[in-house]
Amino acid sequence: TKIAVFASGSGSNFQAIQEAIAHGEVNANIELVITDNPGAFVVTRANNFGIPVLELAPKTYENKAAYEAKIIEYLKEKDVEWVVLAGYMRLVGENLLAAYENRIINIHPSLLPSFPGKDAIGQAMAHGVKVTGVTVHYVDAGMDTGTIIAQGAVDVIEGDREGTEARVHTLEHALYTSTLKQLFEQ
Ligand code: GRF
Repeated sequence: TKIAVFASGSGSNFQAIQEAIAHGEVNANIELVITDNPGAFVVTRANNFGIPVLELAPKTYENKAAYEAKIIEYLKEKDVEWVVLAGYMRLVGENLLAAYENRIINIHPSLLPSFPGKDAIGQAMAHGVKVTGVTVHYVDAGMDTGTIIAQGAVDVIEGDREGTEARVHTLEHALYTSTLKQLFEQ
């Protein structure tokens, strides 16, 4: 399965997916990494794997449709079949959703529908929940609102943001790769 990974930041999920592919665990190939944040660390990671990167600055486009038209052009050129969001900090617009209907997925660091949006781990800790987790879901026009595919739970360590965050990220890497494995087996 030909996939593109979209990321805005560090890219640890991208790296976990690429390593799972390299180990033969996930039947896919990352044709392209797309970032809306030129210079993000994900670019360095992709370069290290020799995976092509498209760095786009959304502000240089007239509007979201024009920005996403450029994205769709590259996805089509690479025959990308699935879009995998991994820390992509932007809502997907209608044209891209239509071009990849039910073929765009995302990972979010909470047990949705709790704590959508930014800093989900901080939100969970501020709320005092004892258990949080990770959700893989299909992407729709809303913020972290699409159909849930898989979830896993993580105990919150009270007062230990760093430790909680580390365990959430470790689970993300495992849950995303196992979910992709299942999706691309069918
Ligand atoms: C992850 O927590 C992901 O769930 C969220 O953004 C973070 C991205 O981390 N959407 P990374 O860039 O994959 O390291």
